[in-house]
Amino acid sequence: MLAPILDGKRILLVISGGIAAYKSLDLIRRLRERGAAVRCILTEGGAAFVTPLSVAALSEEKVFMDLFSLTDESEMGHIRLSREADLVVVAPASADILAKMAQGLADDLATTALLATDKPVLVAPAMNHMMWAHPATRANIASLEAQGVRRVGPESGDLACGEVGAGRMAEPMQILAAIEAQFAERTSLAGRRALVTSGPTHEPIDPVRFIANRSSGRQGHAIAAALAQRGAATILVSGPSAEPDPAGVEVRHVETAAEMLAACRAALPVDVAVCAAAVSDWKVANPATQKLKKDVTADGAPPKLTLAANPDILASLGGAGNRRPRLVIGFAAETENVVENATAKRRAKNCDWILANDVSPGTGTFGGRENTVHLVSADGVEDWPTLSKQAVAERLAERVARHLAAAS
Ligand code: CTP
Repeated sequence: MLAPILDGKRILLVISGGIAAYKSLDLIRRLRERGAAVRCILTEGGAAFVTPLSVAALSEEKVFMDLFSLTDESEMGHIRLSREADLVVVAPASADILAKMAQGLADDLATTALLATDKPVLVAPAMNHMMWAHPATRANIASLEAQGVRRVGPESGDLACGEVGAGRMAEPMQILAAIEAQFAERTSLAGRRALVTSGPTHEPIDPVRFIANRSSGRQGHAIAAALAQRGAATILVSGPSAEPDPAGVEVRHVETAAEMLAACRAALPVDVAVCAAAVSDWKVANPATQKLKKDVTADGAPPKLTLAANPDILASLGGAGNRRPRLVIGFAAETENVVENATAKRRAKNCDWILANDVSPGTGTFGGRENTVHLVSADGVEDWPTLSKQAVAERLAERVARHLAAAS
């Protein structure tokens, strides 16, 4: 009996040029045996190694080959092709197609569909070992992985070119296992409840002015999306942010720290809480109810703002007694002694994990697209490489799923 996980799943398989393309025929067969629908794009290079006829026969679908085919575009545009899939697999992934993907080139149907897709992508590289080891390929792979592209293989061994080394495409059964794992991941948080805070808070000075910070909300929104994609019922409590509401997430829009705390309390109980918001530590003690005018003080001096402390939302969740989430995760935005300060914050706020990040001006983390974090837990410190905020979110969601599964 074959595991039902692939039953009814739609795979878009891109077959690029390389002798390993013959193995993709077996991959199609195995996917079909497990009930997956397989649509294939065959690149010009791929078609030099396997025929469209064999691909069509095994997939029991029309094979897509030419970007500018009028019939193909009217029957099934490249956008639809890339969207009507649950997963896009590139096998074999040649050095050339990986380079194009990394650069965002779109000069044929395969690369256009890959650029247009909003679905997870898995690549199975296959090439000569020198090509695989080349710094250009290394950089392309690193860039793709930072974008969230997954990889299976390559393996080491005899290569078709007669040389020996790393570059042989993973075997079809290995690729199949990677595909199954990717689908299994999507339900890894099913039945769990998650709460995420994100963005800055705005603390009013008067009806038109406020105290804020440079947080974009990108990291928190990406975390909420990654948890929801794994099946968690996710509530995102967000301060003002230009980020769109993530799909499948219940979003509560708030402005101030006090509103954020109230929305978080109302969301309990949850299994996991991730506090990624850059909450303003202070608010104006007595915000003016009318706009402050320039002549607000008798002597014309600027008004003095008296600040009051805001509630600490993370600490409040960490100390929520029997309503405490099983896993409480915070961030630590630091500009010096990153790990030491984060370790102290973890204890002070009674949270389980802290993702420590350096937000010094040169790092571009605040408001930027990338993040370099250190995961601080009771077990020690784990340094993560610089990743896109989306990739940080994916990694964190995976860790959360593993932790909750092990704890229950
Ligand atoms: N945090 C919070 N509520 C606050 C302040 C911070 O929930 N009022 C959370 C943040 O979401 C983050 C963590 O606490 O997960 C640490 O935030 P950070 O700004 O690094 O630390 P602070 O507690 O503000 O301490 P300091 O500014 O002194 O470094």
